[in-house]
Amino acid sequence: AIFTIVDKDTCIACGACSLAAPDLFDYDEEGLSEYVPDDNTGMSAVPEEKEDDFLDAYEECPSSSIKYANEPFHRDPLRFE
Ligand code: F3S
Repeated sequence: AIFTIVDKDTCIACGACSLAAPDLFDYDEEGLSEYVPDDNTGMSAVPEEKEDDFLDAYEECPSSSIKYANEPFHRDPLRFE
């Protein structure tokens, strides 16, 4: 399974993620991206049928703000770094 979370400290609001995966990423009220399905907690796995979209978004983020792991992030984007 793939878990993800956006590091809002480094997101530069470029928008590539929500273009690549509109069902997964959207802007919050401050204009920074977040992983919508689990409110950017990194606790629920990306749906299998959305994994390709997710990988596109992950690869396209210019600031490496989209984190990727096989375990939950527990709200901490830097949990595995
Ligand atoms: Fe931010 Fe990267 Fe998306 S900079 S808006 S998380 S592509």
